[in-house]
Amino acid sequence: MAEIAKLQIGDRAYEFPVTKGSENELAIDIKTLRGVSGGVITIDPGYKNTGACKSAITFLDGEKGVLRYRGYSIEDLAEKADFLEVSYLLIFGELPSQDQLSKFHSDIKDNAIVDDDVRKILDAFPKTAHPMGILSSLTSALTAFNPSSVNVDSDEEMYRAIVKIMGKLPVLVSWAMRKINGLPLNYGSNSLGYVENVMSMMFSKPNEEYTVNPIVRDALNKLLILHADHEQNCSTSTVRIVGSSHAGLFASLSAGISALWGPLHGGANQAVLEMLEAIKEDGGDTKKYMAKAKDKNDPFRLMGFGHRVYKNFDPRAKIIKVAANQVLNDLGIDDPILDVAKSLEQEALNDPYFVDRKLYPNVDFYSGIIYRAMGIPVEMFTVMFALGRLPGWIAQWKEMRLGKEPIGRPRQIYTGETLREFKNIAQR
Ligand code: SDX
Repeated sequence: MAEIAKLQIGDRAYEFPVTKGSENELAIDIKTLRGVSGGVITIDPGYKNTGACKSAITFLDGEKGVLRYRGYSIEDLAEKADFLEVSYLLIFGELPSQDQLSKFHSDIKDNAIVDDDVRKILDAFPKTAHPMGILSSLTSALTAFNPSSVNVDSDEEMYRAIVKIMGKLPVLVSWAMRKINGLPLNYGSNSLGYVENVMSMMFSKPNEEYTVNPIVRDALNKLLILHADHEQNCSTSTVRIVGSSHAGLFASLSAGISALWGPLHGGANQAVLEMLEAIKEDGGDTKKYMAKAKDKNDPFRLMGFGHRVYKNFDPRAKIIKVAANQVLNDLGIDDPILDVAKSLEQEALNDPYFVDRKLYPNVDFYSGIIYRAMGIPVEMFTVMFALGRLPGWIAQWKEMRLGKEPIGRPRQIYTGETLREFKNIAQR
């Protein structure tokens, strides 16, 4: 029997249906609330208790530290799958057959050339420009070179927009990094796999043959998979709400990249490394930074700790921590930053402030250590997060548009001045 939620406001009682998801999550469906109550709404800053949509893409259980893409566990996917396979799974709902995967990759390669005029926009940025700003701008600029309005009811048009951005975004990512490193732009090679080609575009030098390091390739593949989707986080919600106005896919993704840039969200992986570096420079004084993180008068937060949903270990952090050790060992790198990270983690896991607030390491705490081992500049870390999150954003945008969802438009409770008379300036 469907559950009912009862609400009493003053002397009036209301009933609302309760909806249940496939993992038995319950939500009170309040879409009639304002109408039946004469204007009463709910309010929930940061939407901590509010679902924006129903979605069949990613399931996470913050209490149990569970994360699944289309029903497959993140542990299985990170261990056994390839990033392009996982991208196909998120976007189309099923793991691809070999033929489907080969066709997907071939269509992506056929659409990976970026109009050369986009280089002129890139050239206009100062060398000091943050690559997240560059990526967001160039992604939006792609609209100028590709039809912005996608007829989502046409499978062909939707598919073409998907393979275009899956092909072009890695090029823009590599161009942003090559600009930082002062290297000529390039396209890698169509003879390479998707992840291998990202590496080639990012790292190859014009005067030498590029060989893919399998250790780095596997670590990057894992990192991209672990970042691929995470249900209704800040940047994904941005992609969905921008897309709900029927703005184009590329414009919606550009907005999502900007949202991800913030240090409370994807920008945290850069902030974690800068924090660990500061602690190392400070002689490894983790206690000083723990005290700062707990001091309410200090805006400093322990970057890479805490999560809106995970009130247990972020399962991605567990996987990345093991991978960080492995990559550094395999590459023969002895990075003291890893030791600082581990001692900071131990301190936090035993500190009542963090334990009481269920603040555990999140996906960003260890990822930067691997990116650094790969030779990726710290300001590129969030760009790598965006590259991983691309298929998730696409899948969520597609689900929202195909679901014919209404334009997102939250309400508010007004707390400003009530009506007052205008005064001429002479009277003020
Ligand atoms: C990502 O949503 C997603 O799914 C995001 C993401 C994804 O894949 O898309 O997982 C990726 O963004 C991971 C999060 C990366 N951000 C950081 O590492 C930045 C540091 N962490 C935070 O600022 C914070 O934990 C958030 C923003 C991640 C979550 O904030 P919440 O859930 O809104 O928690 P809160 O701000 O309400 O804090 C609750 C308490 C507060 O203290 P009290 O008021 O109860 O005394 O915990 C404290 C906070 O001050 N707190 C921290 C802290 N995080 C929360 N104190 C010190 N250091 C921290 N990192």
